[in-house]
Amino acid sequence: MGNQWITFLIALLFSAVAEASHCATNGLPVVRNISEIAQDNYGRPGLSHSTIAGSVIHGFKEVEVWLQTFAPGARTPIHRHSCEEIFVVLKGSGTLYLASNSYTKYPGSPQEFRVFSNSTFHIPINDVHQVWNTNEHEDLQVLVIISRPPVKLFIYDDWLMPHTAAKMKFPIYWDESCYQTPPVKDEL
Ligand SMILES: *[C@@H]1O[C@H](CO)[C@@H](O)[C@H](O)[C@H]1NC(C)=O
Ligand SMILES: *[C@@H]1O[C@H](CO)[C@@H](O)[C@H](O)[C@H]1NC(C)=O
Repeated sequence: MGNQWITFLIALLFSAVAEASHCATNGLPVVRNISEIAQDNYGRPGLSHSTIAGSVIHGFKEVEVWLQTFAPGARTPIHRHSCEEIFVVLKGSGTLYLASNSYTKYPGSPQEFRVFSNSTFHIPINDVHQVWNTNEHEDLQVLVIISRPPVKLFIYDDWLMPHTAAKMKFPIYWDESCYQTPPVKDEL
């Protein structure tokens, strides 16, 4: 038996383990009831997140879709990522902070955009941004579509932090429990 066989058997073992958990990538029903998809705040106060279609969780390759609700005052970290991201605002309103100039050493003062129910907005690749429910009275609910999952975040403490100092967050909060480090070739 060659190394390839051993690698194959290890891969088989990993897929069996994955199938046994809630992170299964096989057998996803074609139609699912969104109300029955797991939601959690994943340690982020004021957030309710559901992965509708995920790369790590469901095995989707090209896109990932999230449904998120931000309580009044809740917000994303200031961050960037090298994927396309499109938001559809289903309920509420809030503010998008977007620093478009990625040619400087740090994001700098962001532009502010008011976003509202039935609006859509997109984040250009690698632009530093933050979505904030600045409406004191209402939840902000958004559908989020990202390309090239799984997403690798780079998080900033503030808008003056150098791009090179932003901290990488991978896997993202809601992928942590399902993410498996690709098996390393065992040299014994
Ligand atoms: C979807 O799930 C919710 C919550 O369990 C339930 O109340 C609703 O009836 C379901 N919808 C359908 C069409 O099954
Ligand atoms: C959003 O669009 C839907 C469908 O066109 C419409 O029924 C609803 O009133 C709109 N909501 C707001 C807040 O504009």
